Amino acid sequence: SHIIPVITIDGPSASGKGTVAQMVAQKLAYHYLDSGALYRLVALVAIRSNTDCANESDIADIASHLNATFDGSSILLNGEDVSDAIRSEQCSKLASIIAGQPAVRAALLQRQCAFRQSPGLVTDGRDMGSAVFPDASLKIFLTASAEERARRRYKQLIEKGINANMQSILQDIYERDTRDSNRDISPLKQQVDTKLLDTTFLSIEEAVNEVLRLHNAACKN
Ligand code: CDP
Ligand code: CDP
Repeated sequence: SHIIPVITIDGPSASGKGTVAQMVAQKLAYHYLDSGALYRLVALVAIRSNTDCANESDIADIASHLNATFDGSSILLNGEDVSDAIRSEQCSKLASIIAGQPAVRAALLQRQCAFRQSPGLVTDGRDMGSAVFPDASLKIFLTASAEERARRRYKQLIEKGINANMQSILQDIYERDTRDSNRDISPLKQQVDTKLLDTTFLSIEEAVNEVLRLHNAACKN
């Protein structure tokens, strides 16, 4: 049977998942899904509509009616470019809170599966290999030390001209790692069928090449 290949890249915040996944997708001419953006979009709509995040059915309702488009590097919500808005500290935190709600995850599942299109898909998030694409052709757990990830996020924000504080970034990373790893549903955890890729001392290019090498090796089997 013909199965469309999927490369899943899961891991903690600012480990380089998005950057590496997009570059691998580009090299292979595969589609790309940023699953975290979906949770961030739900959070943004909740903030803007003053929806109580403790009200699970209202949040799940937002998730099922999300009118989002991924247009190259920008993310549109009802046609508005919200690529920067969804990266705010407030959105990051709320995304991680609502991501613990089973009804929200269920509401986003079909939407994520629909990205699996020929000739292939590269996707990044927390549960891409464990829950959304359990039959993926290659599963990576991409990580780096918390200090290195905070440095990367700090540099990324400063380069965008956004005011950033190293201490608060590190704290946000610890808080989100803890919440994402300890929730009951689809926690962030290295699964036995994933390949660990620690990029603490790797450049982006080296990480991309390692994923491509693992992909080529998986294809030969
Ligand atoms: O998607 P995720 O939050 O895991 O991370 P990202 O936004 O792709 O990467 C965070 C920052 O780290 C970006 O500015 C990357 O360019 C940078 N990075 C790096 O400096 N070295 C790596 N090996 C990987 C990413
Ligand atoms: O880029 P970064 O790793 O900081 O965050 P993200 O991948 O955009 O994800 C934002 C939040 O959404 C995470 O902290 C998770 O709580 C949640 N998320 C999830 O639960 N499952 C996914 N597949 C992707 C993101």
